[in-house]
Amino acid sequence: MTRRILATGGAGYIGSHTTIELLKAGHSVLILDNFENSDRDLVARIPLIAGVGEVRLIEGDVRDARLVADVMKQHNIDAVLHFAGKKAVGESVSNPLLYYHDNLMGVLSVLSAMRDTGCRRLVFSSSATVYGAAKILPIPETAPTSITSPYGRTKLMAEEMIDDMATATEGFRAISLRYFNPVGAHSSGLIGENPTGAPNNLFPYIAQAAAGLRDRVQVYGGDYETIDGTGSRDYIHVVDLARGHVAAVEHLMSSLADPVLHRRVNLGTGKGYTVLQVIEAFSIACGIEVPYHIVERRSGDAAASLADASLARALFNWSPDFGLVQMCRDLWRFQQGVPEHRKRGLRKLLSAQ
Ligand code: WQD
Repeated sequence: MTRRILATGGAGYIGSHTTIELLKAGHSVLILDNFENSDRDLVARIPLIAGVGEVRLIEGDVRDARLVADVMKQHNIDAVLHFAGKKAVGESVSNPLLYYHDNLMGVLSVLSAMRDTGCRRLVFSSSATVYGAAKILPIPETAPTSITSPYGRTKLMAEEMIDDMATATEGFRAISLRYFNPVGAHSSGLIGENPTGAPNNLFPYIAQAAAGLRDRVQVYGGDYETIDGTGSRDYIHVVDLARGHVAAVEHLMSSLADPVLHRRVNLGTGKGYTVLQVIEAFSIACGIEVPYHIVERRSGDAAASLADASLARALFNWSPDFGLVQMCRDLWRFQQGVPEHRKRGLRKLLSAQ
């Protein structure tokens, strides 16, 4: 059944990939984005890549509660996927108030608009960062939380705000999806994560080093208690993550009301890879050497993180399809196209497909 979905931050990395999967699943999507950390011209690509459906776009700020409520009323929104927010851990440490203002005002605005317009289904973009350096792996949703940055604290506080909204609002249901490490890009090579400046995260850094845009990858630490001493993470292909959102919102919209008002659900693969394993996989998958050198640990990093993803499977029959090689190959295809995306018009690029 077609649902009318509001995707705040829907032009962003996760939001755009999720919008494509929502269109393919037959839903209609309205994107609200202020393009502070996303690409305006990418929105036009979404229906072309999906091959079906139309995307409507409202340019605006999710922190404007009146705007969000007006949009929801005018478009008779059935469910909200709230992606909009800042996500740079380091920046949140140096500028915590900016993160409290942007991330928490955004959630407050969405919840207020939902309360006022009668929309009662929410999927929230949360993060495995709320677990901190977990002592037991893999990490189930029942694991204790441990905040290691203001960014992580905004995610946990937002989850708790959603708890209170669910308790106070008849019929309200929510799922907070705790992402492990989203990586890769859509197989078309036309959308992906293209951070401005030096990437903080491993995959985009590797891709830029492979493209000769960076001298070499700095491997943060070679003395962790892992198979080769480098940090281990649970990387999940961004399209698998996007499909997890579709499964979550369809679960919320199904007639069988979940007795649990607000669920936290991990989205990860349950497989961990170290930095050196990723670098090797990228080199083999893409046939290109990735220069690197091992340096000091990065402060705040955990040795390892790994999802127990069994709840997503049990609750809405979701499991990941793509492995590490596909994550590397899809990212590399996007990275190679990045200069082209800037130089050529979209139509020419699509005709070259
Ligand atoms: C992965 C591994 C690094 C860069 C972050 C956020 C988290 C979430 C996902 C939003 C670690 C190592 C990295 C580099 C390296 N984002 N590394 N050289 O830190 O696990 O998670 O992104 O929700 O909140 O914290 O991801 O890609 O930065 O690091 O050696 O240049 O790669 O030490 O072991 P992280 P990452």
